[in-house]
Amino acid sequence: MNFLVKKSASLRGEIDIPGDKSISHRAIMLASLSEGRCEISGLLEGEDCLATIEVFRKMGVKISSNEGVYYIEGNGIKGLKQPVAPLDFGNSGTSIRLCSGVLSAQNFPTTLIGDSSLSSRPMQRIVEPLTLMGAKISSSQDGTLPLSILPTESLESIEYTLPVASAQVKSCIMFAGLFSKGKTKIVEETITRNHTETMFNAFGIPVEITNSGSARTISVAGIETLKPVDINICGDFSSASFFILAALISPDSEILIKNVGVNKTRIGFLHALRHMGANIEILNEVNEFEPMADILVKTSNLKGITLNTDLVANMIDEMPAFFIAAALAEGVTKVKDAKELRTKESDRLQAMANALEAFGVKYHLSQDDIEIYGLGSEGVLKSAEINSFGDHRIAMASTIGSLRSDSETKILDCENVKTSFPNFVETCKQIGININHE
Ligand code: S3P
Repeated sequence: MNFLVKKSASLRGEIDIPGDKSISHRAIMLASLSEGRCEISGLLEGEDCLATIEVFRKMGVKISSNEGVYYIEGNGIKGLKQPVAPLDFGNSGTSIRLCSGVLSAQNFPTTLIGDSSLSSRPMQRIVEPLTLMGAKISSSQDGTLPLSILPTESLESIEYTLPVASAQVKSCIMFAGLFSKGKTKIVEETITRNHTETMFNAFGIPVEITNSGSARTISVAGIETLKPVDINICGDFSSASFFILAALISPDSEILIKNVGVNKTRIGFLHALRHMGANIEILNEVNEFEPMADILVKTSNLKGITLNTDLVANMIDEMPAFFIAAALAEGVTKVKDAKELRTKESDRLQAMANALEAFGVKYHLSQDDIEIYGLGSEGVLKSAEINSFGDHRIAMASTIGSLRSDSETKILDCENVKTSFPNFVETCKQIGININHE
């Protein structure tokens, strides 16, 4: 499926954003391990989270839904059943890496597979700590899928310093820690999204956090039982980021985005944009187990910045949108230490460099860093054909960039937008974006 996008005039309106993908995965997982029925509202009905639901159904968990509310009848911490076939995680890196922590502790074997994008992503980063915990897990020779996991009696606790800033690896170990003897400690030198910590808290699982300088240690101990909890999930900040960008770069625009998660470990994009001169207000903030607010965004003249390296992990999924903001800012934007972007659903550094090239924006790319020479607030992008490489975030960032192109732009291979934002096209239309698909 391709998107066809025309230059926009003013964008206005109030929109809702689908549920947070990271939080949805974690809610499904803990609810499935609880002893009883959890009611989950606001769950993302995107393909990634539906894959997680299917995985737990295949292991005997009863999951039903009615008008967007999900009912999960947990099997208990020791109650998962052996699936009859390999577990298919589709496109979802989060799901496969987090679930590996749970599956490594079962008394039955599993094989974990995914689509072609997921099958080329690095899995050694979870195989290593899980093996240290005593899991019998192996990947293909080059450290990719399929993963094979053999039955284990129990896991050992470990102390592990994350070699990459990755919430997925941290969370994988935290989930495995629930099944281990003793206390598992994870040290992160760069703070990553803490949704596993907040979701463990919501389910009453003790998590100890200690800070030392810029590092943080997270400790979790094994548990015997898990009580069911009802969960209400906020809108996904990463999905909202495309509409924040749209309002900023479109003339005479004002958009209110309702009920978005504004967890401090997720909103580096807001800090970076404000540093560039963006007019963004956070309104009506409330705190359930995660903070949630409305975000009001108005057209702004942006200027280039040197991105603080610490912010990269905090806005890792917003980097494609950030590159478009940089392309339309006055002056140069410099991003360093962004090589993790090469391990996502596509090589996002290269994919966005290609998109910038097609849009007629000058940049300099090296292995880890990129400099983008912005066209300024009056700048016009060349209408182009952009390859999204089947990556939802490249597709959506390029769609929004097209609002500043001289005529119609075609974004190729956008099917995977459904993984995180199933009603993206409708939401675009709601605020006046001229988008169609073929
Ligand atoms: C996620 C962590 C990030 C992010 C992904 C979701 C999570 O991945 O890119 O979309 O829910 O834990 P990494 O941990 O690999 O950086």
